[in-house]
Amino acid sequence: MRRIAIETERDADQERQHRSATDRVAERLGRITVFGHRIDDSWADLRRRRVPTHWTNLFGTVTLASLVVVTVTGLVLMFFYTPSSADTIYAGSYAPLHGATVSQAFASTMHVTFDVPGGVVLRQAHHWAALLLPAAITVQLATTFFTGAFRRPRRAMWVLLLLALIAALASGWSGYALPDDMLSGTGLRIVEGILLGIPVIGTWLASILFGGPFPGRIIENLYPLHIVVFPGALLVLAALRTIAAWRHGPPQFPGRGRTPENVVGVALIPTAATRAGGLFLVVTGLLLLVSATVTVSPIWLYGPADPGNAGAGSQPDWYTGFLDGALRLVPPGWEVVWLGRTWTLAILAPLAVVGAFFAFVAAYPFLEEWVTGDRGDHHLLDRPRHAPTRTGLGVAGLVFVGVLWAAGGADIIATAFSVSIEHVITALQVALVAGPILAYTVTRRMCFGLQRRDAGLLRHGYETGRIVRLPGGGYHEIHRPLDETELARLAMPGGARHADRPPLDGAVGPWESRLRRGLRSYYNGGVIEAEPAEHEPGDSFPAVDAPVSRR
Ligand code: HEM
Repeated sequence: MRRIAIETERDADQERQHRSATDRVAERLGRITVFGHRIDDSWADLRRRRVPTHWTNLFGTVTLASLVVVTVTGLVLMFFYTPSSADTIYAGSYAPLHGATVSQAFASTMHVTFDVPGGVVLRQAHHWAALLLPAAITVQLATTFFTGAFRRPRRAMWVLLLLALIAALASGWSGYALPDDMLSGTGLRIVEGILLGIPVIGTWLASILFGGPFPGRIIENLYPLHIVVFPGALLVLAALRTIAAWRHGPPQFPGRGRTPENVVGVALIPTAATRAGGLFLVVTGLLLLVSATVTVSPIWLYGPADPGNAGAGSQPDWYTGFLDGALRLVPPGWEVVWLGRTWTLAILAPLAVVGAFFAFVAAYPFLEEWVTGDRGDHHLLDRPRHAPTRTGLGVAGLVFVGVLWAAGGADIIATAFSVSIEHVITALQVALVAGPILAYTVTRRMCFGLQRRDAGLLRHGYETGRIVRLPGGGYHEIHRPLDETELARLAMPGGARHADRPPLDGAVGPWESRLRRGLRSYYNGGVIEAEPAEHEPGDSFPAVDAPVSRR
């Protein structure tokens, strides 16, 4: 025994001596403790993690790629951009504007575009990435909503994502104004009008932002907001959301072998990380390719900002179009005089409607929980059809924003289709009210239809088209039973059924409990459940990825 022990110790000593320098450095580093965790424990945790493979997970990487491009290009642009509204005479390489009086902000942006090698690609990459970023966050919000990924324990993540969208919109809006061209000047004029339309505090707000009569010192005031405050908020929100995602682990769609306690998917290190890295590079590469080939924000064609002028067909960047549309849809003459003041409803009504919409979206996870009484954790996602009321509301919300967005381009629609702008506005006003109601009703019905179809499949399996004649003379179609993977995918998960929630507690007032009961029975109403058919022995099922415990 003693000999064996001595030999083992000797082997260990030899192994230690033969270890490479990098191994020894890695071992030392692994023993370091960061935030109370040893690095090698964290690394082991990383290697143990699994990530479900589903297309809805791709948009986080697209968001990250556009955030990185916008930050890196923004930091480089800072070296060339002059945030000043002071006048100068343009004397750069763009001949048509020679001798024009422009702001230093405009002159420096022209300088980046025409006189700095690669400058135009840099500016366009910043702009294209700024266009992609809110789109990627919006798709993330939509997929989170329609799959119920916002439920406990991820309610805070939903709010963080919505705040990140708002920070991205604010970043984009403030950056859009910086070149001080005719288009951004028009946008700023609208913002000034909105601020002045707010009773009591409007004039004060406008004077703080513009620092004097229009355009005042808007460029100087927006610059710190654009390069520090809004992107800073965006980065902090993205970091907080990443930490929360790490703590809760990824949710997954129901499927064979998938339970709330495990995660079925590929290893985070190296598979998922390599795939995400690949997608990151593809998105970054495509952004650079588009920036090198497709013009965006051609400020040399718009010309410098001029408070007395606005270009025909002025359009904001896509992500602020819905705000512009909300203003355009207000019927003419909407203002009242009250308490000795004029209340400009043409401004207040759109602000209230858009504000209420965002507040509803932020509060939705809490409202749904209040209605359903479902306070449990959910690591399994819903298929949209399994939550018809939620899916209906989501589609109604998209139609609502879509109509506002279309209204932002009402003049373009009128010119493109040669119809009067009044007719376009009237049609969009009707669509703003009727569209969401119609969308909600149709979507909810479609969800029930799809549930019925799934229930049929679960009960009878697939139709094979093979008709056999029975001994009694009748005809019968052979059905192929679903395999276990399909069964697990189609069956309604427990989380989607709220009918069995505990009764409302007695602490709430009678009206509140009546309201909740009514809403709950409507929310749950019509859900179609089906018992899966029995399997024949000997059915073969496809292999699935090995499940790994969530904790
Ligand atoms: C650290 C972060 C950022 C820095 C340092 C930065 C810096 C700048 C600078 C210096 C400009 C003026 C130069 C120019 O217009 O060519 C600019 C413009 C702009 N920025 Fe940013 N930015 C940052 C983040 C963002 C973000 C997060 C967005 C949007 C989501 C954004 C959207 C824009 C837009 C749309 C423009 C106008 C681009 C154009 O000229 O067409 N920026 N930014």
